[in-house]
Amino acid sequence: MTTSPNGGKIALVTGANKGIGYEIARGLANNGMTVLLGCRDRGRAEAAAEKLAQEVHTTVPILLDVTRSETIKAAAQRIDSDYGKLDVLVNNAGIAREWQFKPSTVDLGLVKEIYETNLFGPIALIQALLPLLLRSPAGRIVNVSSSLGSLQLTSDASSPLSQLQALGYCSSKSALNAVTVQFANELRQTPLKINAVCPGYVATDLNNHSGPRTPEQGARIAIEMATLPSDGPTGGYFDDEGRVPW
Ligand SMILES: NC(=O)c1ccc[n+]([C@@H]2O[C@H](COP(=O)([O-])OP(=O)(O)OC[C@H]3O[C@@H](n4cnc5c(N)ncnc54)[C@H](OP(=O)(O)O)[C@@H]3O)[C@@H](O)[C@H]2O)c1
Repeated sequence: MTTSPNGGKIALVTGANKGIGYEIARGLANNGMTVLLGCRDRGRAEAAAEKLAQEVHTTVPILLDVTRSETIKAAAQRIDSDYGKLDVLVNNAGIAREWQFKPSTVDLGLVKEIYETNLFGPIALIQALLPLLLRSPAGRIVNVSSSLGSLQLTSDASSPLSQLQALGYCSSKSALNAVTVQFANELRQTPLKINAVCPGYVATDLNNHSGPRTPEQGARIAIEMATLPSDGPTGGYFDDEGRVPW
């Protein structure tokens, strides 16, 4: 078994090779954790680990495609054999490929593809890694959602969020919020906490770098929820300003 040099906390961040996930990984490593960079491409994972190593962060690339159950199983087995537990899981990997379609015309196959990554992936990861997270004295799960998953905000006709049409993306994030609540209710009597977060509108490949926020700013709330104290919330939905309406 590998011993962690950094206070012993082990974190796994999915989609950690770029964008918000990279900055979440960087922030958690700066918090003293050993961070496993879950990436679907080995080369991109290694490149991210090398880049982070220049800042003396402890990160370990790990092959993980959230839509492929065999990679999830292999990652869980590796974390078990190398560390024996997991302290933090950040379900960050996400896709959005439908900005140009109306709900009435978007291809159902595309919606399913988005659900595989944004919704079924996080569920599969939580289920596979829960035994390891429950071995931690303070397990934390962070689901990277979006304000576009808020039914209250997106149904407000006066809000700019109601102008944005993305059937698969928005509904996948609303469902991810519901998944967060379901697991929080099941796990309320354990030390584990699970919350959903909104990074804000961040300039990344996901939106052709149109957002005003930096990935580092977008990562802040996920890092905060991944390092919550024992009296922190569970089953909530947060951004930098506090609670987000469901
Ligand atoms: N950007 C925003 O304004 C914004 C706002 C609200 C919420 N979010 C959420 O924030 C999260 C990160 O998005 P981002 O903006 O940083 O986007 P990004 O730069 O496009 O990064 C997405 C990451 O997810 C990975 N990924 C995609 N599918 C995957 C799969 N099947 N298995 C493993 N990894 C996979 C990508 O890997 P590859 O490099 O291999 O493609 C990449 O590392 C997403 O959940 C997104 O919905 C973003």
